[in-house]
This record gives sequence, C-alpha cells and structure tokens, in this order.
Amino acid sequence: MSSVYINGKFKPLAEASINVLDRGFTFGDGVYEVIPVFNRKIFRFDEHLQRLDNSLKAIYMDNPLSKNEWSDIFNQLIDNFEDKDQSIYLQITRGVSERDHDISLADKPTIFAMSRPIVKKDLSSGIKAITSEDIRWQYCDIKAITLLPSVLLRHRAKEQGAKEAILIRNGYVTEGAASNVFMVEGNTVYTPPKNRHVLPGITRDLVVEILKRNDINIIEKTIELEQLLKADEIWITSSTWEIVPVVELDGRSVGEGNTGLMWEKANDFYQEYKRSM
Ligand code: PDD
Repeated sequence: MSSVYINGKFKPLAEASINVLDRGFTFGDGVYEVIPVFNRKIFRFDEHLQRLDNSLKAIYMDNPLSKNEWSDIFNQLIDNFEDKDQSIYLQITRGVSERDHDISLADKPTIFAMSRPIVKKDLSSGIKAITSEDIRWQYCDIKAITLLPSVLLRHRAKEQGAKEAILIRNGYVTEGAASNVFMVEGNTVYTPPKNRHVLPGITRDLVVEILKRNDINIIEKTIELEQLLKADEIWITSSTWEIVPVVELDGRSVGEGNTGLMWEKANDFYQEYKRSM
C-alpha cells in the first residue's frame, strides 16, 4: 500500500489518522493545494507554493515547512508509484483545539500530503456544462478546504448530465466549481480577471502566458452571462483536467457543438510546454 505524509511521518494510508477535534474536521479551518506531476516532475512547483503561502497568510497562518522540505516530501510520495503523471494533494489545517472559534487555541498545524496517479479521462471531445448561481463565499481566491458549495454545485451539474457548473455572480462569469473559465469570440480569447471571486488557477495563468507568447489575442476582462451564451468556444482549465472544451452549455451547443480550432491550438501549445519541462 502506498504511503502518505502526516505530521512529519510517512505511513500507509490506512494507518494515517487525525484527532477528531482537528479544526479541519470541526470547522473546515484549513487550506489545500493540488499539484500535478508530469513525467515524474512537479509541475509549476514555485507557483503552487506561492499560492499556498497566499492562502495561509489569508487565514492568519505561516507555512510550517520550507520549500526544500516540501520538495523532499513530494518526491518521496511520487516514488510510491511507477506512474509518470500524478497529482499531489496537500492540506494544512490549523490543528487541534477544543471546539471554539478562537484561532489562538489551536496547538500546531496538521500537515497531510499524498500523491495519486492521474487517471486520465479523455475529455478532449468536450464536456457538457451548466450555468449556476455562484453560491460560494466572498474569499474564493483562498484555496480553502471548506468546499461544500462546490460539492453541491458539481452534484447539480451531474444531476443534469453535465460535468461542470460555470458560476455566475451578479450577471458575470466567475469560474467553474473546480476550474477556471475561458471563452472565444472570433479571434480573441477572454478569461475573467483575477479577483476575490476567482481562484488564481495555476493552469489559467499558464494558459494566459502561453497564448500571449504565441501571439494569440487574450484579454483578461469580465464576461457577462449573455456573452458566454453566445461564445464561439468555451474552455475550462485545471491542474488535473488541463484545458477542456465545453461543447454544450445549458443544453445548447457552444459554437458548432464540437471542439473549436482555438482550443486545438491552445491545447497543442500546452502539451508542447509540458513536454519541454
Ligand atoms: N481545483 N477554480 C477552482 C474553484 C478550483 O477548485 C480549481 C482547481 C481551479 C483551477 O486551479 P488550478 O489550475 O490551479 O488547478 C480553479 C482543484 C484541482 C481541486 O479542487 O481538486
């Protein structure tokens, strides 16, 4: 059985346990990261650790480990599997305290990390998505473990035969329940700007960077629901799904109803970038 990292030790998954008074369990008081590993190399390590630091700072915590310590842990976890492509999950909670909201009562952070092979679902022919009201809180730029709204949103998408919910706040697109959103109109690609209501996706930032480098017109600006509904192409991005075309939105075809030419270009650039790493 593969081992996981828990509070300084590597243990078989079945033996890794935490105190039931852990504030992650009682309050959802913690943050997490999902970091892809391609060809056994940790992808965008610095960017993920920077986002982890930002999330921790936002909840009044310091990173309990140094970059080198994280890197050693990740590499040991990756060595559990032969698979070239894996996904590392790490979670830091505020630790154990009596059930009291006061954060000063917590003893020390609980640190958990594991890696799993990426089981690639072929999503390259596109997925169905729905639009939903963004029912989440105001601090979506923090990668908080408190994910009940996202779980409900994904469930509602599934109930309607879709794979993702694209979220709308006050008439504007924010992001997906667990992804960022791009749309294409003519020769221009749009994605919502980063703000409190959008997680600064590592894949999103990389796609913006790669498109710019390849002279594709990419504009970070607010997208109205009306504009999204008329888009030629829609894509969603995340570390494990990469860039996925949305071919049907709310039961209607997006553009021609199949993967678009701009997506093909973006995906080619992305795969080329991965190979060069
Ligand atoms: N989720 N927005 C939200 C709300 C997300 O949960 C995610 C990723 C993203 C994409 O971020 P990135 O490109 O850094 O993976 C955007 C992860 C994969 C998860 O919760 O499992």
